[in-house]
Amino acid sequence: MELLKEIADWKSIRKYLDKPVEDEKITQCLQAARRAPSWENYQPWHFIVIANPEIKSLLTELSGGQKLIQKAPVVILVASEISCFSEDNARKQILELIEAISGKPANEDFVNKAFIDRPLMTPSKLGDEIVFARALEQLSYAISFMILQASHVGLGTCVVGAFGNKATKQMPEMYDKLIGELNLPDDILPLVLVTMGYPDENPKSRPRKDFNKICHREKFSNPWP
Ligand SMILES: Cc1cc2nc3c(=O)[nH]c(=O)nc-3n(C[C@H](O)[C@H](O)[C@H](O)COP(=O)(O)O)c2cc1C
Repeated sequence: MELLKEIADWKSIRKYLDKPVEDEKITQCLQAARRAPSWENYQPWHFIVIANPEIKSLLTELSGGQKLIQKAPVVILVASEISCFSEDNARKQILELIEAISGKPANEDFVNKAFIDRPLMTPSKLGDEIVFARALEQLSYAISFMILQASHVGLGTCVVGAFGNKATKQMPEMYDKLIGELNLPDDILPLVLVTMGYPDENPKSRPRKDFNKICHREKFSNPWP
């Protein structure tokens, strides 16, 4: 099917058939996710595929009782490796990126002055809150690729962002329990859930804002096209 049509048909699915999802299809979704672009190619993402009912119960509570999590055959917990944003990693990634783009090794002094010392280029210079925002931003691209691949192979998904974690600072004790159950290192922060399964509903598409109200040519309010 044409990509734009697949995107136009895409919708959140919150009810699932009681039918297991094949590992192969989940793998395809994860492969799509890992191809997403990211800030200086940090790729700060980890994906934990969860089918265990006890962990799903914990995630349901951490999401304010959203039952779709318990009922989904699969929940993919998407987490960010925060140390990807460290200055050391930023330097390493930029050196690699410049070499890949220019075909020549980059000068480290230049990289420090042009990138590492500048908050515009190095999110960690702007503090933890900005690093969280940037981490979430990178995960969003990966999730977008993942959920499109899921619908392409007949699976329904729903992104669940209402989730007690270090960014939302809700339910800290339950969050610590989750960290323990999943053996997550300190550096790995769970930020988003994606529920997944074969659809057991075909809801009406939710509206989007008018194309003409949000797309502009050169200046705000000059219509595109
Ligand atoms: C970052 C993000 C967080 C979301 N969080 C939730 C959530 O916690 N629970 C839920 O049922 N849907 C959640 N959604 C789904 C949105 O409600 C849904 O995408 C929106 O209403 C548009 O509907 P559609 O996806 O069917 O087009 C979330 C979507 C995004 C992108």
